[in-house]
Amino acid sequence: MSRKKLVFSGVQPTGNLHLGNYLGALKNFVSLQNEMECMYCVVDLHALTTFQKPDVLRNNVLETVASFIATGLNPDKSIIFNQSSVSGHAQLAWILNCVSRIGWLNRMTQFKDKAGTDKEKASVGLYIYPNLMAADILLYKATHVPVGADQKQHLELSRDIAQKFNKDFNCKDFFPLPEPLIPKNVARVMSLRDGTKKMSKSEESDYSRINLKDSAEEINKKIKKAKSDSEQIPDNLKSLEKKPEALNLINIYSEISETTIEKVLNEMSGKEYSFLKTKLADLLISEITPVGKEIKKLLVDRSHLEEILKKGREKANFIAEENIKNIREKVGLI
Ligand code: AMP
Ligand code: TRP
Repeated sequence: MSRKKLVFSGVQPTGNLHLGNYLGALKNFVSLQNEMECMYCVVDLHALTTFQKPDVLRNNVLETVASFIATGLNPDKSIIFNQSSVSGHAQLAWILNCVSRIGWLNRMTQFKDKAGTDKEKASVGLYIYPNLMAADILLYKATHVPVGADQKQHLELSRDIAQKFNKDFNCKDFFPLPEPLIPKNVARVMSLRDGTKKMSKSEESDYSRINLKDSAEEINKKIKKAKSDSEQIPDNLKSLEKKPEALNLINIYSEISETTIEKVLNEMSGKEYSFLKTKLADLLISEITPVGKEIKKLLVDRSHLEEILKKGREKANFIAEENIKNIREKVGLI
C-alpha cells in the first residue's frame, strides 16, 4: 500500500541544545523539510518524566522553538508545535500503554541509564516514556522519523506497538511502521571528555559538549581541552578503533567540513591533533555561533515564538483529530 510520506520528530525541552542534537537531528530536520511534509514537536510531556521547575520548563519550550528556527526550520513549511497542546498525544499514549508489553519496556536501555541504580524511585512516566513516543509518531501516522542512534531502540518499539495494534484490532496497515532516519557518521556524537559516552545535556561538565549558544571563545577553549590522542593522526580508520575521543573529533570534523573520513585522514595523517583541533574550532565557530546569536535574538520576542506554536498546534490538531476519531472507533470507544 502506498501512503503519503510524513516526517515526525520530537526534541525534549530540557535545556541547552548541543552539537549532538544539531548534527544527529536538527540538521536532518532542516534538509527533510524541503523533501516531505514535516512535523517537529517540542515534547514537553516527555520532559516531565524527570522533575522540571515550571518556569524553567516554560522557558525551555520557547528556547527549543527558537533553536528550531535558528537552525533553519521554516514554520511555513514545517509544522512546529508543543506536544501538550494537542490532547491526542496523551489519549493515544494511554491506549498504547494497553497495547505495549511490560516485557518490551523492560528491555529499554535508556530507562536503565536514566533511572540509574535506584529504579524503584524513577517516575512511572520515565518507564512508559517510549509508549508516549510511539503515540507521538502514530497519532499522525508518520512514516519517517529522523533521530540520533540513541532513539533507535525506542523506534523499534514503536514499530512493534504499531504492528500489535494492527493485529489486535484486525486492521492491517492502519498504522504504518515508522522508518528511522539515522545519520551515518554522527548518529552518536560523543562527549569531548569521554569518547565512550554520548554528548548530552545532562553530563555535569560543560567541557563535555558544544552548546548551540556557546561563544567563539568557549568553543575554542572546549575544543582545545577536548581529549584526543598523544600519537599523530593515523592514515586509516582501523587505528582509531581503540581511540574513541580521537575518532569522535575526526567524525565531527568530517561532518562539519562535508568531507569523507577517508579524505580527512588522507589530508591529516602524520599531523598532531592540535592541527585538527584548530581547523575544527574555526569551522564550528563559523557554523554554530550564528545559530546561537539567532537563538538569543529570537528569544527577545517571545510572543513571536508563541505565535509559531499556536499556528503549529492548529495544523497538528487538525490531523490528530481525524486520526483519533478513527483510532477510537477501531478500539471500540464511543
Ligand atoms: P533529546 O535532546 O534527548 O530530546 O534529543 C533530541 C534529538 O537529538 C534526538 O533525535 C536524539 O537522538 C538526538 N541526539 C541527542 N544527543 C545526541 C548525540 N550525542 N549524538 C547524536 N544525536 C543526538
Ligand atoms: N525520545 C526522544 C529523545 O529523547 C524525543 C522524542 C519524543 C521523539 N517523541 C518522539 C523523537 C517522536 C522522535 C519521534 O530524544
